[in-house]
Amino acid sequence: MTVAAGQSETIVILDFGTQYAQLIARRVRENGVYSVLARPDVTVEEVRALNPKGLIFSGGPASVYEKGAPRCRPELLDLNVPILGICYGMQIVSQLLGAQVRPGEAREFGRTALRVLEPDVLLKNVPRETTVWMSHGDQVRDLSDDFLPLAATANCPTAAVRHKSRPIYGVQFHPEVTHTPHGKEIFVNFLYDVCGCQGLWKMGSFIDSVIAGVRARVGADERVICGLSGGVDSSVVAALLHKAIGPRLACIFVDNGLLRLNEVELVESTFKDHFKIDLTTVRAADLFLDSLAGVGDPQEKRRRIGHTFIDCFKTAAKKVPNAKYLAQGTLYPDVIESGHSLAGQAANIKLHHNVGGLPAELGFELIEPLRDLFKDEVRQVGELLGLPENLVWRHPFPGPGLAVRCLGPITREKLDVLRQADNILIEEIIAADLYRKTAQTFVVLLPVQSVGVMGDGRTYENVVAVRSVDTADFMTADWSRIPYEVLATISNRIINEVRGVNRVVYDISSKPPATIEWE
Ligand code: XMP
Repeated sequence: MTVAAGQSETIVILDFGTQYAQLIARRVRENGVYSVLARPDVTVEEVRALNPKGLIFSGGPASVYEKGAPRCRPELLDLNVPILGICYGMQIVSQLLGAQVRPGEAREFGRTALRVLEPDVLLKNVPRETTVWMSHGDQVRDLSDDFLPLAATANCPTAAVRHKSRPIYGVQFHPEVTHTPHGKEIFVNFLYDVCGCQGLWKMGSFIDSVIAGVRARVGADERVICGLSGGVDSSVVAALLHKAIGPRLACIFVDNGLLRLNEVELVESTFKDHFKIDLTTVRAADLFLDSLAGVGDPQEKRRRIGHTFIDCFKTAAKKVPNAKYLAQGTLYPDVIESGHSLAGQAANIKLHHNVGGLPAELGFELIEPLRDLFKDEVRQVGELLGLPENLVWRHPFPGPGLAVRCLGPITREKLDVLRQADNILIEEIIAADLYRKTAQTFVVLLPVQSVGVMGDGRTYENVVAVRSVDTADFMTADWSRIPYEVLATISNRIINEVRGVNRVVYDISSKPPATIEWE
């Protein structure tokens, strides 16, 4: 793992298995400081190589006194780099410095009242009485005299602590979650007052350093190919590379016939007409739909789409002379999940569907300019590069597209119905100002017919399901509480305007146990 080009201030976060590791990393970055995640057993040399301004030890589900609980190298404490331990992270640091960790008399879960005992730089601007988010059964006991308690709750006398002579802090609560209203202050205090950061992580300077890196790497007669999908990541990669190397960028966009309404037009007008990027649209709808004829099994659909995509892409790429590089929109969470980082394989491993992935045998060198960024940072970069709002804020769309939202075997007619219904849904969600508040919202065409009545006649037509979820990471998700009135408008409009649909249902399943897509 290399530190993003030009980043002189880095915070290393040791991930002890918390579900909040990426959230902590983002909290640090939101406050202008670059952060990387690391395995708990990261070596001192690996940490030193990053020249960090501070370390954060995350929470985790284990108990520090259990056999096999994740541990860190004790020498990290001797680097004289400031440390903030959070929950399990605080317990492990305290244990390494001589304290006992045992089950507390009472466990604390959820919002808990906190009282500040000592004015300390870590708690600057935190009210004396406040609320924090707790999630622990264990507690630090017999804290050595080297530590000073800074804050307490009714059941935890050591809710925040500081080492008296070393820059080591611990909090038993979770400052990273929004349920701790003054968590931001704690991060700011730690980063700026304790670690001495200046806040050098800015998207503008990130863009400049990526552009300089790409210019230095790509030769004057070499070209870079970028596969556009219509999604935000590949769009940002294309805009970024275009800024760096102009006409040496060649974009390929495969129209597989499974895209949303007007998606091809949006991509073409943005990249070809507005940015004047060299864009080839491969019109392959027939090829894809023919290969899917009669196929009902979702995995088989994915497989066929994947193969056809690679064939189309390869053929188009061969036509680009001097193409040496392939640009991809890999993000930091993908890097973490694939195990190619200091974070190793994090506890949460997302299932990689990998449709649209390109095999190494294509023979290109990879350029992955977003591999240090989180999704919200990619959107910031997109805005700074002048991409239109409807691209930058687009909900994610699966590689196999509408094929996995048209359940069972696909036909062109069914895809048309689905496209129209989906477009109405999105129009209404935008009109109700819910588009940015939901993470993914779409229509699924079900393979059942239902009886209805329209005018004086009986109908026997399609049923569509509306799916909308709230999630930050797409690994777990809750269904969006869309107001009834908005649902009513959506349902009325779809049934009135889309021929062949007489019933709309709303999916109220969370993930897990359901998934976000239906196939
Ligand atoms: P699930 O349905 O697994 O979806 O809860 C999680 C996220 O992944 C997207 N998804 C896919 N993305 N190829 C993709 O590129 C696929 O085959 C695929 N299947 C699901 C889904 O839209 C959601 O954002």
